[in-house]
Amino acid sequence: MAKGSKTVFFCQECGYESSKWMGQCPGCKAWNSFVEEVVESKKAAQALSRSKNIEAPVTIAEISTEKDARIQTNIGELDRVLGGGIVAGSLTLVGGDPGIGKSTLLLQVCRNLAGLGRKVLYISGEESLRQIKLRAVRIGEFNNNLKLFCETNLDTIREVIKRENPEVTVIDSIQTMYNEEVSSAPGSVSQVRESTGVLMQIAKVLGISIFIVGHVTKDGNVAGPRVLEHMVDSVLYFEGDRHASYRILRGVKNRFGSTNEIGVFEMCANGLEEVKNPSEFMLSGKPEGASGSIVACSMEGTRPILIEIQALVAPSNFGIPRRTAAGTDFNRVNLLMAVLEKRARLNLSASDAYVNIAGGIRMNEPAIDLGIILAIVSSYRDVVIDEKTVAFGEVGLSGEVRAVSMAEQRVQEAKKLGFESVILPCACMKSVENIKGIRLLAVDNIKDAIRCIGA
Ligand SMILES: Nc1ncnc2c1ncn2[C@@H]1O[C@H](COP(=O)(O)OP(=O)(O)O)[C@@H](O)[C@H]1O
Ligand SMILES: [Mg+2]
Repeated sequence: MAKGSKTVFFCQECGYESSKWMGQCPGCKAWNSFVEEVVESKKAAQALSRSKNIEAPVTIAEISTEKDARIQTNIGELDRVLGGGIVAGSLTLVGGDPGIGKSTLLLQVCRNLAGLGRKVLYISGEESLRQIKLRAVRIGEFNNNLKLFCETNLDTIREVIKRENPEVTVIDSIQTMYNEEVSSAPGSVSQVRESTGVLMQIAKVLGISIFIVGHVTKDGNVAGPRVLEHMVDSVLYFEGDRHASYRILRGVKNRFGSTNEIGVFEMCANGLEEVKNPSEFMLSGKPEGASGSIVACSMEGTRPILIEIQALVAPSNFGIPRRTAAGTDFNRVNLLMAVLEKRARLNLSASDAYVNIAGGIRMNEPAIDLGIILAIVSSYRDVVIDEKTVAFGEVGLSGEVRAVSMAEQRVQEAKKLGFESVILPCACMKSVENIKGIRLLAVDNIKDAIRCIGA
């Protein structure tokens, strides 16, 4: 007999249930009416009932996608990261440090959707209704399509979702939710995982789009949402400098769109505001006439973003020079400095070097290599780079400047923001030669590039 099943005796006359056989039924007093039956445990029974209504496999043409039209949130930056809006029945995880603005953003989403006449349910396990109201007052006007609910018990939540049948539900946050069937505390890995499983089922069966908020803690004390990244459809992470007002929403997983797309927001008194032109935003406050500063171009998803790279190279007082990299990969900076030493004959071994992506944004695209190289040379030689110049290109170990993707978009972005010249890899020239009104300086290796900036 399969594990998890047991036998019970039923009275055929009245259905009386007994664990052992009896001659006379205590319920209906009938004689010799008991029969033995195998009863599956609850789980096995569920599996059985599920297997009964298995549907036949279908062809692609038979699947209708009409119902899955995307729901626009009217927050352009978020829609872009989601790949064009919310997909019906999808499960999205919004992660980020505490206090970065997850609840604020999702409440704004709720407000917009409610304003468009969609039923929205916001379930909070963290804040009281009063606290949510205080935030809502900050954000603006809400209509009655949005319902709020404070609860942490998933069984209750499931019932409420079934009863309300909203189109979109927000769960804030997964770390506070608990499932009675799991004995561990809320926030533990098994709770978080089980709870997500339950929400996944709700989303898929009822076709409700669910947003889950998950806190990420640096020291990893609380089970981070990373354990459930593989369960959900999309994962968005909120990043940002604690001290800066802008926030970046990055899509790291998306079953319905491209990843690596970013949305830029600014935290204002009345909630998160979209930053429509991040390049302009990132370049505000760029110093004029200072050495060690250059504008580089990085692609974030489908969008080019211009950023300022700063370098400070100063004589070292110690035998081992200090190097730091803020906003980009430290090892990459070390590698580029080694390339400069070997291929451009710069003696950097006695210099401290500090490289910084201004504004606190993180950029790891190889296309900013050339910018980092030129910023370091500019600071080392104390040569000011023309402030209307943008540079992009990947730098290889032999000092060659290699092609990068989407050169055209990068040059167009530079042109749009009023830059006058672009230093770019020779191999990219073909795709941009039709662009007029901006000087294109094609370089083959870093020596050429250094010559371009007059150092
Ligand atoms: N009046 C305000 N003006 C500007 N920013 C505010 C204001 N009130 C709150 N904030 C910002 O909102 C943040 C709280 O956002 P919240 O959505 O609660 O974060 P999370 O849900 O990610 O923990 C605070 O860290 C603060 O920076
Ligand atoms: Mg919150």
